[in-house]
Amino acid sequence: MVKFDQLLYGGDYNPEQWLEYPEILEKDLEYMRLAKINTVSVGIFSWAMLEPEEGVFRFEWLEEIVDRLYENGVSVILATPSGARPKWLADKYPEVLRVDESGHRNFFGGRHNHCYTSPVYREKVKIINQELARRLGNHPAVRLWHISNEYGGACYCPLCQEEFRRWLREKYGTIEELNRRWCTAFWSHRYNDFAQIEAPSQRGERELHALKLDWKRFVTARTTDFMRYEISCLREAGSKKPATTNMMYHFGGLNYAEMAKYVDVVSWDTYPTWHKEKEHVTALDCGMQHDIMRSLKKQPFLLMESCPSSTNWQSVSKLKKPGMLQAQSLQAIAHGSDSVLYFQFRQSQGASEKFHGAVVDHYGGSDTRVFREAAKTGASLEVLRELCGTEVHAEAAVLYDWENRWAMEDAQGPRNRGLFYKETLEKSYRALRRLGLNVDVIDMGKELDGYRLVAVPMMYLFKDGFAEKLRSFTAQGGTVLMTYWSGIVDETDRCFLGGTPHGLMDVFGLRSAEIDGLYDWESNTAVPTECGQGILKQIHTCRALCELVEVKGAKSVLTLGEEDCDAETEKGSEKASGSEKEMVMKCGESGHEKKTGKKCGESGDEEKSVDGHEKSDSGAEVLAVYGSDFYEGTPALTRNVYGKGTAYYICADFEQSFYDEVFDYAVKEARISIPPLAEIPQGVEVMQRDSGEASYLMIQNFSETEQEIIVTDPEYDVMFGKDPKRLKKYETVVFRKSAAGKKE
Ligand code: GLA
Ligand code: ZN
Repeated sequence: MVKFDQLLYGGDYNPEQWLEYPEILEKDLEYMRLAKINTVSVGIFSWAMLEPEEGVFRFEWLEEIVDRLYENGVSVILATPSGARPKWLADKYPEVLRVDESGHRNFFGGRHNHCYTSPVYREKVKIINQELARRLGNHPAVRLWHISNEYGGACYCPLCQEEFRRWLREKYGTIEELNRRWCTAFWSHRYNDFAQIEAPSQRGERELHALKLDWKRFVTARTTDFMRYEISCLREAGSKKPATTNMMYHFGGLNYAEMAKYVDVVSWDTYPTWHKEKEHVTALDCGMQHDIMRSLKKQPFLLMESCPSSTNWQSVSKLKKPGMLQAQSLQAIAHGSDSVLYFQFRQSQGASEKFHGAVVDHYGGSDTRVFREAAKTGASLEVLRELCGTEVHAEAAVLYDWENRWAMEDAQGPRNRGLFYKETLEKSYRALRRLGLNVDVIDMGKELDGYRLVAVPMMYLFKDGFAEKLRSFTAQGGTVLMTYWSGIVDETDRCFLGGTPHGLMDVFGLRSAEIDGLYDWESNTAVPTECGQGILKQIHTCRALCELVEVKGAKSVLTLGEEDCDAETEKGSEKASGSEKEMVMKCGESGHEKKTGKKCGESGDEEKSVDGHEKSDSGAEVLAVYGSDFYEGTPALTRNVYGKGTAYYICADFEQSFYDEVFDYAVKEARISIPPLAEIPQGVEVMQRDSGEASYLMIQNFSETEQEIIVTDPEYDVMFGKDPKRLKKYETVVFRKSAAGKKE
């Protein structure tokens, strides 16, 4: 794990834009001191300044600036400049430019407009990276390598296509195996040879989902390979400094879980649209991204970029209201960041980012509102210095997986006008966060050991071994809450035969039989059964997708119509129009008790399964049923005891309040410890970091009004912030408790 001695504070710095103004560069050092800036990232797009002509190097300006920064107590994150190539390179070696999916080579321009395969590009990157490494790679100012900048996009040139075919050959071995896994018997898509395969394209093959999925995997593999190549060049030239690359918000172009394996510390760039929605909605969204980034390595991460003021590429460039900059910055720290870094320190004079917010704007003074806010944030990070390197432990995790996202969003059906994967993920996340729990957001590859509860929203694609992992997690006492549209396809997007959720039907005590897509104006409800009334206090609405499941013994969709009235509502056949009270069902009415003889809370006849776990054979307990449509009265929420654990199944796209009630119950049942607060008012964010020597409780008010915070554990002292009894909007209070337990 990369350890820093202080929380890094600063941001992207582009002195090459100011070389003609030595007085400005001198001023920058003074401003950095005033704002308590201790780290800047340099060299990100400096290639043309470092190598103005092929083989001609001009490093003096950079070396001088790095020295000056060092003398002034500012450390450096040193970037490799591969994010944008010089014009001479593109002109002399056109093969370095990207080719789009219809086969056209781009002109020079933009940033990531180069081929990651091109031997020339790799060679030229090696030369410049190694120059950098030799000259500055061991400079005492340099803390970290910043590899390229926001990798993204793909190249479809002949070299990349050939590389794709090589990657496929390695993956599948034979073309027969590829045909089988890709289901190419469909639409006469059989390939006779790997040599025939082309990348997906709007002008060509765009329906073969397995091809598209593998192409996306390949793009991640290619980009990661390029990143690793860049790092290896630095190592070869003798620099051992740790390396990171900056990732992006909800970016679907790369599987960050893969990339993260090859960096020493994860970092990302955040540009939330504050003041657009309710602040706490934005805070939850941003908090979840922080948690995704932290969970990639389950270690502290770095906030590599954020905007000190307004962001010029957004549809509306909104100023941050007073206090928001500090709130946003401390939120990153609360979620496990060891830095607050901006894009950028000094606002550029021309080109496309001239109106992007910066610590120092075109006016050029420190007597600005934004500068004062930045200086205040810098001072707060000094107070919180001991949080650096502390960890965020979570007992609950929500699963989010890039490959699953790709596969699900690419599939046709069950709802092409919106599956709402991110929103569904957020519902589980929010239900846990409102209880103040630290939450990891992990991909399918991560271990589940150490968690007490995991939420598995819409895990359409199951990678090999995933079902077994969930099974043993449950058997050993874990609580799982999985939703509809899970366990449908395998790694190459082939539907599992023999029933879904694949490999877990006994764990959940059900089989998913059908899924109904709802038009935007349609909805259904979940009506609690007698068993479910301890969990659901009201009827909840669902939209978009309703899964119809078969639970042994419960009222079944298959037998609907054949049965007598034992599944009707209390008021006889009064259907969906029934009032809430009338709609509450009894367990027996859903056919459950009658057929299984099972009472609420009992798991039914248990027997040992093959692997020795307790196995429930009588089907899940039905906690809620649908309130309308032809599947009225069939399960909408179920619970099954499996081994020592519990498996909940959420059958439809329910509203947030449904998730809140179910998770409240499941968290208690799983005995997850909640933070020591009398109450968590809506809009207040709570996070905990731990060092082993001390625990830190960080509380932020993202609600619209002042809030009262009462910590019930007297061993916590306020270490940062004013009166917690009157926590104003955007304010943060941090409590500390030493592990010895005694007040110091
Ligand atoms: C990205 C880039 C930066 C800059 C900012 C502007 O995050 O990495 O170079 O362009 O956006 O918001
Ligand atoms: Zn290419």
